[in-house]
Amino acid sequence: MIQQDISKHFETDRIDFQFLSGNHLYSDYTLVKTIIVNLLSNAIKYSKDDSKIIFECSDIQVENKPRVKFSVVNLLGDSGAPERDKLFERNYRNSKAQNKPGTGLGLWMSQEIAKLLGTTIDFQNFGEQIIFSFDIRTK
Ligand SMILES: Nc1ncnc2c1ncn2[C@@H]1O[C@H](COP(=O)(O)OP(=O)(O)O)[C@@H](O)[C@H]1O
Ligand SMILES: [Mg+2]
Repeated sequence: MIQQDISKHFETDRIDFQFLSGNHLYSDYTLVKTIIVNLLSNAIKYSKDDSKIIFECSDIQVENKPRVKFSVVNLLGDSGAPERDKLFERNYRNSKAQNKPGTGLGLWMSQEIAKLLGTTIDFQNFGEQIIFSFDIRTK
């Protein structure tokens, strides 16, 4: 089951997992998981210390077709908000994130994988809140 499979990568109780979909993905599960693990790792690394991270997986309809939407929500930490127009560029790192280890490849790679799967990772920033989301076809 996807919940156990993803949560075993994270030894933290900061992630609130909300699995609201029982649908089966019509996609490459290993690649979907790679994106999710990347987004959750970033949320842990760049959020405010000890703050909660929400991972949600829910059913949506796009042009009358069922899809599962995955979202990762976190609060901004010391590194502040990344620049929207550069965020998915290869090797982009927020200048205030330089004190944390990283290569700036994670979101670029995740977006390339999303394209392979026929979807796009969206980024939203409402005040202190950051949301990354994408959706996948279901059977
Ligand atoms: N969940 C997040 N919250 C706040 N900032 C983020 C988040 N995810 C990514 N970022 C910002 O976007 C930059 C690029 O992320 P990424 O491509 O994963 O590279 P890396 O993690 O190696 O720095 C990060 O350096 C960070 O500044
Ligand atoms: Mg990263």
